[in-house]
Amino acid sequence: MIFVYGAPASGKTTLGKRLAKSLSSIWLDLDAFIVEREGCAIRDIFARKGEASFRDIESAALADAIAGADRNAVISLGGGSLLRDANRAVCEKAGTVICLDAPDEAELAKRIGGAAGVRPLGDKAKERAAHYASFGSRISASFEAGEGAMESFVIIGSGIAKAIAGDARIVADSTVAKLYPEFTPMATIPSGEEHKTPSTVAALWHAFANAGLGRKDSVTALGGGVTGDLAGFAAATWMRGIDWMNIPTTLLSMVDASTGGKTGCDLEEGKNLAGAFHAPRLVVIDVDFLETLPEAILADGKAEMIKHAAIGKCSVVGKGIPTAKEIAENLAVKIGMVKRDPYEKLGLRMLLNAGHTIGHAIEKSSDYSISHGRAVAMGCVEEARLAARFGLTDEAWVREFEFAFNAAGLATGLPKGVTVESLVPLMKGDKKKSGGDEVVFALPCGWGDTRAVKMNLAEGIRPC
Ligand SMILES: NC(=O)c1ccc[n+]([C@@H]2O[C@H](COP(=O)([O-])OP(=O)(O)OC[C@H]3O[C@@H](n4cnc5c(N)ncnc54)[C@H](O)[C@@H]3O)[C@@H](O)[C@H]2O)c1
Ligand SMILES: [Zn+2]
Repeated sequence: MIFVYGAPASGKTTLGKRLAKSLSSIWLDLDAFIVEREGCAIRDIFARKGEASFRDIESAALADAIAGADRNAVISLGGGSLLRDANRAVCEKAGTVICLDAPDEAELAKRIGGAAGVRPLGDKAKERAAHYASFGSRISASFEAGEGAMESFVIIGSGIAKAIAGDARIVADSTVAKLYPEFTPMATIPSGEEHKTPSTVAALWHAFANAGLGRKDSVTALGGGVTGDLAGFAAATWMRGIDWMNIPTTLLSMVDASTGGKTGCDLEEGKNLAGAFHAPRLVVIDVDFLETLPEAILADGKAEMIKHAAIGKCSVVGKGIPTAKEIAENLAVKIGMVKRDPYEKLGLRMLLNAGHTIGHAIEKSSDYSISHGRAVAMGCVEEARLAARFGLTDEAWVREFEFAFNAAGLATGLPKGVTVESLVPLMKGDKKKSGGDEVVFALPCGWGDTRAVKMNLAEGIRPC
């Protein structure tokens, strides 16, 4: 059972309901349950009987709700439901309490203002800050990422993955499975891009068959971008498509690969050649996983985060492990682009390709010994230099951009013996090419300013 808790007006009802939908679970709202049982509004119970009596009524209702609810139910609590230790103990025995971070003061005032009187304890949010802070499972932000067939609900927080995926049928990265033995995977896949192959997808299909997965079942990916792409693709193709949940465990997969609905595997002929658009119904971003991520892999994710800062509005990440709030702000940039162009038809989504035309060429020229994130950092700076060369930005910003990567532990400057010109033949092979020698670059030109520019690669690189 999952209990959604938090300060008045923190969004418990909306989030609880949405979370239950994405998990196909029963949802119950404790306040609504009380109103139904008592036959009158909560503010009237407060007015007539006082807070102590209301709390007695609430405790009894909570016990009955838990006794009657499905074990996978999601229950949205009232803002003071767990002030009594006994209530807290009852919930923590039945499941996990997830506390929502309170919105900032301005937002809170706006929400409470709109619901004046309905929540008699609205002004208590601050007073109870220590109480709310004492819950270890937290959600800092949530998003709707995509609509219709591409609809995903994304939650970002800490201490939440186990609570949400406890009973799920998990496909886990083998390294992650070892590091996090509290999860019991249905199938593990060996770590590493070299295993992102059709034969691993086939192994997953066999695991699904052995587990008896039907059309109404779902699977959960637990790992980095490789695991998400593979498990998502296996889900897209199992019985012509079943639901899946994604729990990204690398920074790169949190801020990039986990949303947008692209799934697939590599072929000998090229990366990501076989695949499908199949968005996970729920993406659970739990920043606790970042604690075990090796420094270099963390830096790979930061490269995409800094790239996002050159596309949309978000702050630039620096040293250390990014917070849930920083990740949420950063991810909002990708989600905004995907929302407006879900199937990559309008050319908007291609702006997410900033730094990637040269970045992919660097990866290829190194025979993939340079990681994707590092190549993207180098590619971003080289593409910003191109933008400056063609008068789209100035050298000062390019230096600022380069400094941001360096400060996050990412070297820039091309590998020895490599020049942008020497990479041109590899850029022509890029799958994003618009035909012949014409390639559309997403050139970083400033913070929040990336522009699509068509280039002719027939002789060097020049705008068409
Ligand atoms: N679907 C998309 O839109 C999209 C977008 C970008 C990238 N991708 C794909 O994502 C892949 C790259 O993702 P990635 O960088 O996450 O790589 P990855 O999945 O290979 O993970 C990198 C390494 O980190 C390890 N790891 C994962 N979580 C860990 C943790 N919490 N602690 C310690 N180690 C951990 C893994 O075992 C692996 O060795 C590529 O295949 C790329 O094509 C997909
Ligand atoms: Zn990338």
